[in-house]
Amino acid sequence: MANRIIARLKAFPAAPAWFTRWWGDLNTHQWLAPSFTGLAIVYMLVDIRPNWWPGGVRPDWWLVEPVVPFNFISVLGVMGLVGMAIHLYTTCLRLHEPVVSKDPRRIYLIALVSMATFGIFWLLESLHASPYLMPLPAAALLLKVFVNPLVAIVTTAVIAVLGGVAHGSSGLGPVIVGMGASLAAVFAVPRIRQRADLARAGLVAGLFGAALTSVIGMISGGHPMLWGPHALSAIAGGVGSAILAVGILPYLEGLFGITTTFKLMELANPSQPLLRYLLMKAPGTYHHSILVGNLGEAAAEAVGADPLLVRVGAYYHDIGKTKRPYFFIENQMGMENAHDKISPHLSALVIQAHVKEGLEIAKEYSLPPDVTRFVSTHHGKSCIAYFYHQACEVDGPEHVEEDHFKYPGPRPNTKEEAIVMLADACEATVRTLKNPTPEQIEQTIRRLINKRLNDGELAEAPLTLAEIEIIAQTFLKIVQGLYHQRIEYPDQLMKDLKREPKEKKLGSLPG
Ligand SMILES: [Fe+2]
Ligand SMILES: [Fe+2]
Repeated sequence: MANRIIARLKAFPAAPAWFTRWWGDLNTHQWLAPSFTGLAIVYMLVDIRPNWWPGGVRPDWWLVEPVVPFNFISVLGVMGLVGMAIHLYTTCLRLHEPVVSKDPRRIYLIALVSMATFGIFWLLESLHASPYLMPLPAAALLLKVFVNPLVAIVTTAVIAVLGGVAHGSSGLGPVIVGMGASLAAVFAVPRIRQRADLARAGLVAGLFGAALTSVIGMISGGHPMLWGPHALSAIAGGVGSAILAVGILPYLEGLFGITTTFKLMELANPSQPLLRYLLMKAPGTYHHSILVGNLGEAAAEAVGADPLLVRVGAYYHDIGKTKRPYFFIENQMGMENAHDKISPHLSALVIQAHVKEGLEIAKEYSLPPDVTRFVSTHHGKSCIAYFYHQACEVDGPEHVEEDHFKYPGPRPNTKEEAIVMLADACEATVRTLKNPTPEQIEQTIRRLINKRLNDGELAEAPLTLAEIEIIAQTFLKIVQGLYHQRIEYPDQLMKDLKREPKEKKLGSLPG
């Protein structure tokens, strides 16, 4: 029946454009329909309170007094409100958050957080508590951590409006304060990386909410005894939000398998078993990974990518080298080259294998998927040129298949993965230069980046040419600084040594 009505509407010539787009949105984001239907049901249960109970008698535990009369018009109003919320959501996600809108984990999390907030709203009402206690900033903080600030702002605004409208003019104050406190929570800290950031954001939200409550109270000419307790409730709501967010975060992380900054901070800790294993088995690779992390982090800051994700991705990108560390130049440290004894074809197979073996180790150590992707994408589908040319020399180019010397991919498809790919190539190559001049370093870095670009390795990554140039300049600045210091070091040492007796004399002054 419903399908027939939709088919009729779709065929209706007067309104095809808007309906087709709206229906397309709803089809693309099918998860939205159940989420918002759930929201509508919770909403109606909480605020319209129908006498749907068996025998038409509400049980005793249903403490809340009806606010919205239960009749056809009010139900129609609620459905209209929820429909508008669906429209706002689908349009916002389609236009501004296409990646989030295709990620069911994040969508279900948004739905769960929204409904839980409604649940708390209902609970507070049941207990006749102040609506200013409403922990809406907790929803804002969780959505900022798990999704992003825009989704956090839009979602909390929708929750606040849906929650407040049912209460008519009396709901307006809590709606404004809830939205203001949520905005303050989202903007209080630029990046939430640890529990202290959540605590600070909660406190800022509480203080901002209290200030807003006071200002609204003053404007409406109410006595301070009327709005004062609400202001205190707003502070308690903000601080309570931080406590709630800290407590619930690990469970949501486990439930939805989303990598948060908290998890990334944990993975960046050098005491992590897998990092310690890398240091023990392949110290050269460990050092290389740290340098790639430093280069990548600076570049990510410069182009607005996630610096922490880049750093962690860089730390783990070469974990596959722990299987056969001595086949990689950074771990040979004066030992004979293991590749001298085998054919270029076999050498290429061994080198290629570090990606596949890295994925196996990542699975064994339960690395999150967002970090594991750096293992598979850091070489893209590039060719192991050194062994390819060696094979061409030995067997003749006509007998060598270039594809056999290529990594399996996939290519990077986020800014962060592309940055690690470029930082990895630059670090590995610049390290092999002996006493390079700044010009040589610049030439090498630009050549490497242009090669990746021309080979299409960056074709799937959302980086602009301007951003690639910024990345190149950031790498240059860091690498040249590193080598400049090393080159200058002997002169500086001589100067320091000549000055030493004077300093010693100063140092030996009594005091
Ligand atoms: Fe690698
Ligand atoms: Fe690497």
